[in-house]
Amino acid sequence: MDFKEYLKQQKQLVDNALDKLVPAANKPPARLNQAIRHSLIDGGKRLRPILVLAAAQAVGGKPEPLLPFACALECIHTYSLIHDDLPAMDNDDVRRGRPTCHKQFDEATAILAGDGLLTLAFELAARPIQDVPAQDSLAMVVQLSQDAGIHGMVGGQMMDMEAEDREVELAELQYIHIHKTGALIRSSCMAGACLGGGDKSQIKLIKRYGEAIGLAFQITDDILDIVGDSELMGKTIGKDQQQAKATYPALMGLGQARDEADNLVNEALSCLQGFSADAEPLRALARYITDRTH
Ligand code: IPE
Ligand code: IPE
Ligand code: MG
Ligand code: MG
Ligand code: MG
Repeated sequence: MDFKEYLKQQKQLVDNALDKLVPAANKPPARLNQAIRHSLIDGGKRLRPILVLAAAQAVGGKPEPLLPFACALECIHTYSLIHDDLPAMDNDDVRRGRPTCHKQFDEATAILAGDGLLTLAFELAARPIQDVPAQDSLAMVVQLSQDAGIHGMVGGQMMDMEAEDREVELAELQYIHIHKTGALIRSSCMAGACLGGGDKSQIKLIKRYGEAIGLAFQITDDILDIVGDSELMGKTIGKDQQQAKATYPALMGLGQARDEADNLVNEALSCLQGFSADAEPLRALARYITDRTH
């Protein structure tokens, strides 16, 4: 399979769907919709929605009907980036190769753009999906709210802030990363597997796959903050050290952090051993987590 081409096509699919699903820039409140579009449209790798689609395909499901749900994950992720970049949090000026939302607009607008995206996400996730029982749909909405919220991403972001400027042990760092980043990635994988019609054991394996790549993804983000190219990444690098963030390379060095991420990707791949060739995109996505340069 031509993975580069696959990624490009899936990104296009997600980009087109997002453009249709979010309010037009000239619709009132125009400034809010412009801020949302500034951060959301034509930006980012679209990893989480692509994982939803790939997980559905891995269990033999049709990915297209899941596009609104997949876009919900991108809306939540983008909201988390807008808020993560605020002066009160990581205080970043560049995101996805453009000024951050609060820089381009203002802080109040950025806060509200995040709030708007989070709420829109649940409207999209709750839409009826062709051939999917309403109870499965509802279960995945509940799961998403947990993984995005206090017991998932939001909780993880809180712990990330509290861990600045002090020593952390590996167990705590792992806990932070699993929550602030891993939870949403795992949720994407599970939602795809469940809404794509996977059976219990398939969903369980894809959940473990998602857990492993979710942690590997944040470890790689930490590594790229040191060795990455800010132009390619579309964000300022070197900030973690500057802000004394708890990261894998800070704790164990670059080499060991890379080994940890590689081991997690292998663990994720082993979860897919019993799956057919339909899981090829999901396998390639696992390798991409650590191979990526941005
Ligand atoms: C960056 O996420 C923030 C983290 C959770 C590490 P991505 O690297 O997926 O950012 P985009 O979506 O491609 O911009
Ligand atoms: C962000 O982690 C995790 C989120 C939930 C947004 P980082 O703070 O490391 O993400 P970047 O490096 O700013 O993209
Ligand atoms: Mg942060
Ligand atoms: Mg940040
Ligand atoms: Mg980072």
